[in-house]
Amino acid sequence: MKENIFNLRNDLRGKLNPFRYEHTISVSFTSAALAMCYGADLAKAELAGLLHDCAKHYRDEEIIKKCTRESILLTDDERKAPAVLHAKYGAWLAAHKYHVKDEEVINAIRWHTTGRPKMTLLEKIVFTADYIEPRRDRAEDLPFVRSLAFKDLDECVYQILKGTLKYLEGKGSFVDSVSKEAYAYYKQVHDEKKGEQE
Ligand SMILES: [Fe+2]
Ligand SMILES: [Fe+2]
Repeated sequence: MKENIFNLRNDLRGKLNPFRYEHTISVSFTSAALAMCYGADLAKAELAGLLHDCAKHYRDEEIIKKCTRESILLTDDERKAPAVLHAKYGAWLAAHKYHVKDEEVINAIRWHTTGRPKMTLLEKIVFTADYIEPRRDRAEDLPFVRSLAFKDLDECVYQILKGTLKYLEGKGSFVDSVSKEAYAYYKQVHDEKKGEQE
């Protein structure tokens, strides 16, 4: 497993630009830290974090062509906002090119951009690590979300989705319906928890 991680790092270093590679390593270690906190499988978290953006270096048109060639079905939403497609094609690459057999790891890569309702622990870990890793510096809510990540992961996912949707809608960008469904699901989790506390 360790050897595999080193080989994968070398492969990705050659493919991704230095900033994307740095982000990749950072997501991998942040995923590992969250796995330690929540008792998830450390090796799976490190691997999923490492591979989460393995398709990020392809342009939108290229990725659509590749998906079509491999008979990967695209939703209407994905055609409207292809930026999310690197997650879907990345999951395919993880399985077919990097020979990842573990469904949990593949799904954590698959859902790292949009999220989805009822994410597994590993999916929530990689989704969150992608947002909070130490090289990120744009989102205003980072200090709050970073500290929340290690206290209440569901609440953290809710806050990330809320902030992301607000940001995208503020820019007038198209929002994938899976992200909206994920937000509605984690808002309900948030509201129920709040109701219990009152
Ligand atoms: Fe990504
Ligand atoms: Fe990423």
